[in-house]
Amino acid sequence: MAIIASSAAFADGHAAPEAEVLHYWTSGGEARSVAVLQEEFAANGGTWTDMPVAGGGGDAAGTALRARVLAGNAPTAAQIKGPAIQEWYEEGVLADISEVAEANNWSGILPEAIAGHMQCDGTWCAAPVNVHRVDWIWANAEVLEANGIEMPTTWDEFNAAAETLQAAGVIPLAHGGQAWQDATVFEAVALGILGADGFRKAFVELDMDTIKSDDMIAVFDQMRTMRGYVDDNFSGRDWNLATAMVMNGEAAFQIMGDWAKGEFMAAGKVPGEDFLCLSTPGDGFLYNVDSFAMFAVDGDDKQAGQALLAELVVGESFQEVFNLNKGSIPVRTDVALDNFDSCATLSADDMAASNEGGSLLPSYAHGMALRGAQAGAITDTVTAHFNSDMSSEDAVQMLADAIANSL
Ligand code: BGC
Repeated sequence: MAIIASSAAFADGHAAPEAEVLHYWTSGGEARSVAVLQEEFAANGGTWTDMPVAGGGGDAAGTALRARVLAGNAPTAAQIKGPAIQEWYEEGVLADISEVAEANNWSGILPEAIAGHMQCDGTWCAAPVNVHRVDWIWANAEVLEANGIEMPTTWDEFNAAAETLQAAGVIPLAHGGQAWQDATVFEAVALGILGADGFRKAFVELDMDTIKSDDMIAVFDQMRTMRGYVDDNFSGRDWNLATAMVMNGEAAFQIMGDWAKGEFMAAGKVPGEDFLCLSTPGDGFLYNVDSFAMFAVDGDDKQAGQALLAELVVGESFQEVFNLNKGSIPVRTDVALDNFDSCATLSADDMAASNEGGSLLPSYAHGMALRGAQAGAITDTVTAHFNSDMSSEDAVQMLADAIANSL
């Protein structure tokens, strides 16, 4: 059944929906996922112009988007998330999609915390796609079994496993040395060591006592230890190539959000058999919600395209099929998880439990917790430390200074 977008232009039948969509879903699993959206868009009469910008974590896409908007040539829609949505809104360049949101009862079907990210001054300014969890460890099942290793549930266990693997000639940790990947590992370690309250204080509230604490020194100590578990060629490696190292048994573990599961699935690997998933040591859940914001553009066809796109991404069928491919879970609470695997159900259960227990937290490394300047200041420190012999004490001082200067 065709979905009727609630945009007046489309409903009147005057304009065929068109959208130029800027996104950064270019790896194998990501491309399969975005194809689902392109197909649904076309099936509903839309014409999609693809504007993919390669680069994990979306930094390159963010730069490309800024250049387009500054040149007065904004795309119809762009993959933007977290406080960046509000930052763009404040620049006065986003379209209001409240009509679609209200017609489709978004406030009734989205968790409140997530709905909040999609709103700007009481209007709806972005459409959510999924919930990715960031704090995951992925492992090659055969490599662990061959070395008598269980999935680690503490950082000490992780380190002990890594030592065993290293002695056996296996790379313990597949890692790509790009700033956002360093930040991804760092925030998982920080959640484990600081705990959920400490994480919130440090990376949501920017509380200086927590930032300068001994626990933060311990976080950098663990990062230094883990630097010893990556191979010599890690610099600049793309995250999906690191996932491939785990897939082919060259490395045992990867610490990465569940878009990595999309890569395993795209390669036909089976969770629980070929690869294992477990949340990184410690309590809590770091969420990362992908979303599309629409830019204020002229043309009934484009506005119809925006309405259709917004309606589709929150639609039930897209939420299921897209997230099965993407490795994430549906953002809607009313989509059944019967067809999802054990990693996805673990994610959904942990999300519900952490929401109850107050440990559901926005990912700083994936742009959900802080504005760009503050997140950038933290990541610069993390990556400077990881790629040098800087002491943990110096890293903590640099972190405190960088955050203070970014405010
Ligand atoms: C995005 C994911 C994406 C990943 C790698 C994350 O920040 O939320 O959708 O797959 O980066 O590019």
